[in-house]
Amino acid sequence: MRPKAAHYDRVQEYPWEIKEALCASGLMGVWIPTEYGGGGAGVLDLCLVVEELSKACGGVGVLYAVNALGSFPLLLAGTEEQKRKYLPDIASGKRLCAFGLSERGAGSDAGGLATRCEVGQDELIINGDKKWTTNGGAADIYTVFTVSDPTSMSRRISAVIIEKGDPGFAIGRTEDKMGIRCVPVVELHFRDCRVPVDRILGGRPGAGFKHAMMTLDRARPGVAAQAVGCAQGAMDLAVVYCTQRQQFGQPISGFQMIQGMFADMATQVEAARQLVHASARALDLGAKDVTRMAAQAKLFATDVAMKVTTDAVQLFGGYGYMRDYPVEKYMRDAKITQIYEGTNQVQRIVVARSILKQASSLDHLKAYIPLPDHPNTLADRARAHAVPAKA
Ligand code: CAA
Repeated sequence: MRPKAAHYDRVQEYPWEIKEALCASGLMGVWIPTEYGGGGAGVLDLCLVVEELSKACGGVGVLYAVNALGSFPLLLAGTEEQKRKYLPDIASGKRLCAFGLSERGAGSDAGGLATRCEVGQDELIINGDKKWTTNGGAADIYTVFTVSDPTSMSRRISAVIIEKGDPGFAIGRTEDKMGIRCVPVVELHFRDCRVPVDRILGGRPGAGFKHAMMTLDRARPGVAAQAVGCAQGAMDLAVVYCTQRQQFGQPISGFQMIQGMFADMATQVEAARQLVHASARALDLGAKDVTRMAAQAKLFATDVAMKVTTDAVQLFGGYGYMRDYPVEKYMRDAKITQIYEGTNQVQRIVVARSILKQASSLDHLKAYIPLPDHPNTLADRARAHAVPAKA
């Protein structure tokens, strides 16, 4: 990948040869159970692969990881027939996948979708448009989130499996992006797109929002791993550069200010990596409150990636700002990790909601916190325990 990364970044084309190499190496579908032809591993293994790929190219990292994002809904909620029909081809890399949730008017507000799905006796009729679908065009299978019951608050949304070539389904505009340029990000259009009714994920309409949220819980550590890979990759290049670059008669790696930057960068990357691994392990073990852990890993690792890749450009000085050098690409690739699969502002909402939901478990600490006008302040307690003055 490394010798090709700059080329695909420049031409903004899908690197089919790299995808074939990934298939040949048996890495596609490591997260899919062996009974469906996958590697039988989990989110942790997915993250390890994504980090390694992203060290060389953040675009290839997401090109790979987005197949997990697109196939997690099938794994989590698909019927047995749906799993048997789609997962083996995804596991082998024969068919690629994508995840169609966002729309022009529904980004962070994932529940505010407008794409409609009329559920008939035999068929589904889909109308609407999706935005920012990563892997769109290259992918053969799309998990698309639609409004199947506009009258319901809690069972409004359903996921539908769409295949390339379905009548009424078309790929629209391909975006011209700042980073991850080797992987397409496109619009999807549905105009009276008719598919058989058994394409509803899980066989029954109404659980789509939960399925989307559960999918994002499993996929966010993968974005975090992409961020760790970008950060580590940029830092590795900066270390090599600084040991060679001579100024004031010595390699700049000999200066304490540069060494201080290395120490901070390495510590932040390692902290991010440990959080990614912890959240991935928790998901694989089926632990509780994985939503919060996945969000924490995503927001921390991606903020670290932005900082570390920016510092790596700084270490390269004027050369770092130039496209002839490999390091500015890492900064551009890192930026999207703070935005997609839920902005870091959304991740902070998710983490804060989880903290506040569990706040009652800390009620025993109330006794130690004097609050004004509270009957149980420390002053009240001191008064209660005071020895009365002798008459
Ligand atoms: N797991 C299971 N259920 C969940 C859940 C989770 N993690 N999070 C929420 N829910 C359930 C709630 O329990 C609630 O259920 P009930 O109605 O039964 O009570 C329901 O879903 C609604 O939950 P909220 O009230 O919390 O929903 P909300 O409207 O306030 O939204 C949000 C919460 C966290 C902001 C959510 O909308 C969100 O995550 N937004 C970001 C969307 C996102 O990540 N988009 C990226 C798309 S993919 C992409 O980037 C493109 C790509 O191709 C890479």
